[in-house]
Amino acid sequence: MTNHPPEPFRIKMVEPISLIDREEREQALREAGYNVFGLKSNQIFIDLLTDSGTGAMSQEQWAGMMKGDESYAGARSYHRLAAAIDEIFGFDYFVPTHQGRAAENILCAVALQKGQYVPSNMHFDTTEGNIRARGGRPTNLVIQEAFKGADPHPFKGNMDLEKLQDFIKEIGPKQIPFGMITITNNAGGGQPVSMENLRQVASIYHEHEIPFIIDACRFAENAFFIKLREEGYEDKSPLEIAREIFSLADGATMSAKKDALVNIGGFLALNDKKLYQRVSNELILREGFITYGGLAGRDLDAIAIGLREGLNEEYLMYRLKQTAYLAGELKSAGIPILEPPGGHAVYIDAGKLLPHIPQPKFPGQALVAALYIEGGVRGVELGSVAFAHPDPDTGEMVYPEMELVRLAIPRRSYTQSHLDYVVDVFKKVAQGKKEISGFKITYQPELMRHFTAQFKPLP
Ligand code: F0G
Repeated sequence: MTNHPPEPFRIKMVEPISLIDREEREQALREAGYNVFGLKSNQIFIDLLTDSGTGAMSQEQWAGMMKGDESYAGARSYHRLAAAIDEIFGFDYFVPTHQGRAAENILCAVALQKGQYVPSNMHFDTTEGNIRARGGRPTNLVIQEAFKGADPHPFKGNMDLEKLQDFIKEIGPKQIPFGMITITNNAGGGQPVSMENLRQVASIYHEHEIPFIIDACRFAENAFFIKLREEGYEDKSPLEIAREIFSLADGATMSAKKDALVNIGGFLALNDKKLYQRVSNELILREGFITYGGLAGRDLDAIAIGLREGLNEEYLMYRLKQTAYLAGELKSAGIPILEPPGGHAVYIDAGKLLPHIPQPKFPGQALVAALYIEGGVRGVELGSVAFAHPDPDTGEMVYPEMELVRLAIPRRSYTQSHLDYVVDVFKKVAQGKKEISGFKITYQPELMRHFTAQFKPLP
């Protein structure tokens, strides 16, 4: 295998993209309130906002959609999905949901009470938002290496086991309705969790009778990192590794928009029958009947096929190497990135790149705006705009440890020359970085403000 395996597919259908001129980009960003979520997609050239639901489906998935069974209850599509979930995840029960956050919402609705805590390595913002929306307290207990951008630790998504033990002792297991872990750790750089750490986390939760729920969005990428980096897993298939991961847990929330290679969908899987029954009732109220959960039958078929394709080794090698390629080129250009690169995205340390912009003036947001203006590239801020929040006890602002910008790579969508273009844009932004200034928020909602906040550039 070469260092950058060529794309293991050829292009059968094309979606034109083009770069509007600089003045138009400046106007578009101004009209969007300097929030790239407000841009129209035809104003963007290379869209690295997210890897969620933005990938290309395969010919088998499109063919599978033609077989979609749209029966309200008991559709064949549901049973095909059930077989795939059983083969990979092995939980006793599951319900489809329209995407990952719907699974989180339903889990929190039935299992979480006000004032309770949910530990994880790091919660993603939707998980955090769903826990907070029910009056709960999300708690991040990732290892300290996760916050050291240049530390080459192979499993920076690992939970700090000592912190987890101390936390459970301090809070008391009765105040922890379930414990989580996110694989890979998106909010901390798309970093994987080792099997050894997963085993220990499971054992700590179970020792205290706390159900263990895995946020499984990027489980296939995590499984492949285990194969590449953890002793004893070299000869195991990603499927075998995935099965071992999920055998440790009591359930999983899943956004199929990531490692199931589809544009929409998700599920919540569980072993506890009573919990599943309550989940089913909530699902029927909010999402739809238990055999379709807010999706069309054809969507269920695309997920069933995508889950298996997402575990293909040749695909996973290409996927992780493509991300590593972009990371390596940016690093060579002197851009401070999180190392080693994660699975689905490259994370840039905007705090380090733009040290003249303090956290309350949002260096990550400033970098995202500069990338768009320079080359029509859309990234996303995962720093203080996304994660700073008032402390529930003191009301004081709590800032995240790092000001990150994420360049997420849609699956099977962009070629290596697209990534080379992104590197060129970065080089130009870095050359003029002293001219980049911070931002002030002029509007923000109470939760998950980064999606709709409006900004004003500071002088
Ligand atoms: N958990 C993780 C780790 C995620 O990355 C996401 C979504 C979700 C849960 C929620 O899933 O979007 O299907 O409701 N992450 C996307 C992203 C939005 O851009 O990283 P969803």
